[in-house]
Amino acid sequence: MSLSPTPPILEARNLTMYFGKFRALNDVSASFAAGSLTAIIGPNGAGKSTFFNLLSGAFPPSSGEIIFNGVNLTGQPQYEFPRQGISKSFQITNVFKKLSVHENVRVAAQMEVSRFNFLKNAQSYPDPIIIANELLQRVNLEKLRDRKAGDLAHGQQRALEIAMALACNPSLLLLDEPTAGMSPEETLVMMDLIRTLATERTVILVEHKMKLIMGLCQRIIVLHHGEFLAEGSPDEIQSNAEVRRVYLGQG
Ligand SMILES: Nc1ncnc2c1ncn2[C@@H]1O[C@H](COP(=O)(O)OP(=O)(O)OP(=O)(O)O)[C@@H](O)[C@H]1O
Ligand SMILES: [Mg+2]
Repeated sequence: MSLSPTPPILEARNLTMYFGKFRALNDVSASFAAGSLTAIIGPNGAGKSTFFNLLSGAFPPSSGEIIFNGVNLTGQPQYEFPRQGISKSFQITNVFKKLSVHENVRVAAQMEVSRFNFLKNAQSYPDPIIIANELLQRVNLEKLRDRKAGDLAHGQQRALEIAMALACNPSLLLLDEPTAGMSPEETLVMMDLIRTLATERTVILVEHKMKLIMGLCQRIIVLHHGEFLAEGSPDEIQSNAEVRRVYLGQG
């Protein structure tokens, strides 16, 4: 493991995941420095989404531990993860299609505000409408705020989903193939957005298109057949013979 100047915000320790008898992830460990932008790459079926789902608390690992900011989150219910500051957007688009763009983000912000109202005075929290305005600006959707979410282009729906994931102001943002199904133009816009978001918080990005993340991330982790294959800078990964072999013939 390489020495890092900041303490890790997240540690995955020996994560293994079985679906029935099938082992989708085998003893994967990794730690993520606060403020870093890391990509998890690997061919189809490598176990990336499984790893992502474990890190975001979608389901508990069969074995291993997830430590976030020094807190052991292993086996905690899904709702505990955003409470601790971990937010995610999925590989599959997940917006309320019949609600407007602004309403979608407002719902996410409202959920956030009501969560805290149990503990604190409501007035000490900003208005969900104002939060939604800011987040839509963040992802460049403010001009489309009154459109139905289902009518947006695919890339715009993905951006909307990210705005929703940001409503809890997470310290760790997890993105599973945020450019899946996007046109080259949409992909460039999304990459720019991710670059900006990563200046404000820790980002872990799952991606199977290796070329995309080469100019974006400081660090890349490669999974293959559910196992940890390699980790390093884009240059190190690009010149790694084993990585090249598993990606041979892929884009
Ligand atoms: N819920 C599940 N039940 C059974 N098998 C599963 C389940 N989820 C994933 N798998 C299997 O685990 C393996 C890893 O899947 P995973 O979705 O993590 O891969 P991935 O790297 O995200 O692939 P892709 O690039 O296609 O998104 C695959 O063989 C998949 O079929
Ligand atoms: Mg996947």
